[in-house]
Amino acid sequence: MADDPLVRAAREAQARAYAPYSRYPVGAALEAEDGRVFAGANVENASYGLGICAERSAVSAAVTAGAQRFRRIVVVSDSEPPATPCGACRQVLVEFGADLVVETVGPRSTGRWRLDDLLPASFRRTTLAAAPRGPDA
Ligand code: THU
Repeated sequence: MADDPLVRAAREAQARAYAPYSRYPVGAALEAEDGRVFAGANVENASYGLGICAERSAVSAAVTAGAQRFRRIVVVSDSEPPATPCGACRQVLVEFGADLVVETVGPRSTGRWRLDDLLPASFRRTTLAAAPRGPDA
């Protein structure tokens, strides 16, 4: 676990989080199918609602670099139990595949799920595409 490069990348990102309001730094690292790793941290704002979570930061970094297919995301936080992705991040992640493996790492414990267990019956592109004027019509 400690020698997992994804855990290391998520810890490094957590150390760079900007979380002066919540004081709850989070780091995430997303492993693309081609082996590349993309990290993200939470970035908060004085206008509280504009803060972005670590998971969505990592997705933005990955997509910007041209990666859209992922195997695994590791999320590191300092709480027990460790943070699992919030609802908004689950929805953003499922856009790129419901079979993503989600791993959480805290000071003393870890967790592991498939994304579609964390977000069952999700709303997806395929649902839109099934409508007469959907994106792939
Ligand atoms: N946060 C994340 O970045 N990821 C999570 O999985 C849970 C919550 C952030 C949002 C906010 O900056 C802080 O943690 C407290 O909610």
